[in-house]
Amino acid sequence: MRLSSCALAVAAASLCLSSALAQEEPQVVRQNLMKEIGRSVGAMGAIAKGEKPYDAAVVEQSLTTISTNIQAFPDQFPPGSEEGHETDALPIVWERPEEFRSQADELYSEAQALLAAMPADQAAVGEAMRRLGATCSDCHETFRAKKQ
Ligand code: HEC
Repeated sequence: MRLSSCALAVAAASLCLSSALAQEEPQVVRQNLMKEIGRSVGAMGAIAKGEKPYDAAVVEQSLTTISTNIQAFPDQFPPGSEEGHETDALPIVWERPEEFRSQADELYSEAQALLAAMPADQAAVGEAMRRLGATCSDCHETFRAKKQ
């Protein structure tokens, strides 16, 4: 009895460990950074569309997350992470690292400029979305596999 519950505990512990390790894989880290960026843009989109009332704290938090995450993003592509964990990153990320990094910098600068100006109402958030959105699609167009 004692033995089998111990075996269960060991199995559970190693399960935890393997999922913790998967969380640290660069493919997973970068996908999570992008997911958070996506959620932030979504939160601003809801304001732009009038689904949510304008909220300066939400806008500031969203722009801050976008800035922080896009700064960390280009460092999550070490050699050996070209495949696996259903990555959508294209080989060109590793072939043209400088261009990739400068696309990330562009989004970073845009988010920083918007933070400094702080969109102050629904219309300004809509305009901010258009400026951000252009940099997302520029990079995805070249460096991310198209969704089927
Ligand atoms: C510097 C290039 C670059 C920029 C800029 C960029 N992305 Fe991405 N994005 C990628 C790449 C590459 C992937 C695929 C990552 C992978 O699967 O390993 C990705 C994946 C994603 C994903 C899917 C994450 C997942 O796996 O679930 C979302 C959502 C996303 N991006 C949203 C955005 C939004 C919104 C913006 C703009 C605010 C943006 N991205 C800007 C390169 C970029």
